[in-house]
Amino acid sequence: MDLATFERLLSPAGQSLLTEIASRAGIESDLAPGTRLRKGYDIEFVAAAVTQNHLRGKARSKFGDGAARMYFTPEALEQSTRAAVSEHRAARLSSSGASAVVDLGCGIGGDLIAFARLGMRVRGVELDPVRAAIARANLTALGFSGTVSCEDATTVAIASDEATFVDPARRDGKGRIFDPTNCVPSWDFVTSLLGGRGVSKTMPGIDHRLIPAGVEAEWISVDGNLVEACLWGVAFASVRRRATMLPSGATLTSDDDECSLVEAPGAYLYEPDDAAIRAGLVTAVAAKVDGWLIDPKIAWVSSAAHVPTPFARAFRVIDELPFREKPLKAALVAHDIGTLTIKKRGVDVIPEVLIKKLKLKGTVTATVVMTRVQDEGRAYLVNPL
Ligand SMILES: C[S@@+](CC[C@H](N)C(=O)[O-])C[C@H]1O[C@@H](n2cnc3c(N)ncnc32)[C@H](O)[C@@H]1O
Repeated sequence: MDLATFERLLSPAGQSLLTEIASRAGIESDLAPGTRLRKGYDIEFVAAAVTQNHLRGKARSKFGDGAARMYFTPEALEQSTRAAVSEHRAARLSSSGASAVVDLGCGIGGDLIAFARLGMRVRGVELDPVRAAIARANLTALGFSGTVSCEDATTVAIASDEATFVDPARRDGKGRIFDPTNCVPSWDFVTSLLGGRGVSKTMPGIDHRLIPAGVEAEWISVDGNLVEACLWGVAFASVRRRATMLPSGATLTSDDDECSLVEAPGAYLYEPDDAAIRAGLVTAVAAKVDGWLIDPKIAWVSSAAHVPTPFARAFRVIDELPFREKPLKAALVAHDIGTLTIKKRGVDVIPEVLIKKLKLKGTVTATVVMTRVQDEGRAYLVNPL
């Protein structure tokens, strides 16, 4: 979508076209309004409005009901931060005393909106003219004030009361491992901001060695899925590493007690949340459940008694099973198991391949943990709690 088409969508004609398409949703197929409306409008305009309506539906999982009034492009929606995370970040920034923020590369405004929602004075800067116009329109559509300029974020002046936020795009648009030479604005620009009142979203796969001195890295998961890491500049950092689980907001840090005791599994096993694993806080999870590690390098924790925790998924150990395929199959047959989930860590097992080979025909559904315990492959029949 080019800028002229987007501006037409904002015009009264565009708004009534969007309203009409939305009102037909569910009554007609995606293509039908296009075919019918082309009688009154040109084809590109109708296609842009139909696409916009489709993107609004898709964006609902990230932005909730507000998505129905917002504007997107497919790539910018893909890159935008979901509200659960941007609101958590905005709340933390606001509670640390920041009242104004400049978003340097604001895209369609996912983060900008969250800052505005908390009453902060917001200013977006975006190189792409269509995205800049969309971010501006999104603020207006949701009833927030703020400005968005279309310019290079690396050269704008920052006011003394403004905190900075930057969510760099990956230059090639792909990959989960963070390569600092591969983002725009550049990693050098990002780290220069982190020396002060800067905050940056980054890839959860970031190598800990890249985190500048004095900066806090916060790994964030939503509903158990690791979604991003956020770097808190020197002015906002309070610990070195943190794992935050949303929506609960439960948080674990490198200042929490740790337990690095290693022993064979006891009555309970815990699979730490990926945010805790990435943050290098598995030993802190072990301390929270009065437990221990089952191997110094494996992210499973065990305990003698069940301690409910937001930082890990707990399993009751029912039985230890043989690890090798043939005796494992015999044990699973003896338990009448037909449907199996294998959770593996640190061992050379491909669950789908093994499950196929086992050809189980029993009536029971079960979970087996296959893991390394002090350099040995072990298998445990477990019950999720
Ligand atoms: C990952 S997206 C930001 C998404 C945004 N946080 C959101 O939630 O919608 C990164 C944005 O930075 C913009 N960008 C990259 N380099 C820039 C620069 N030098 N100046 C301004 N914007 C830039 C890109 O055009 C892109 O829209």
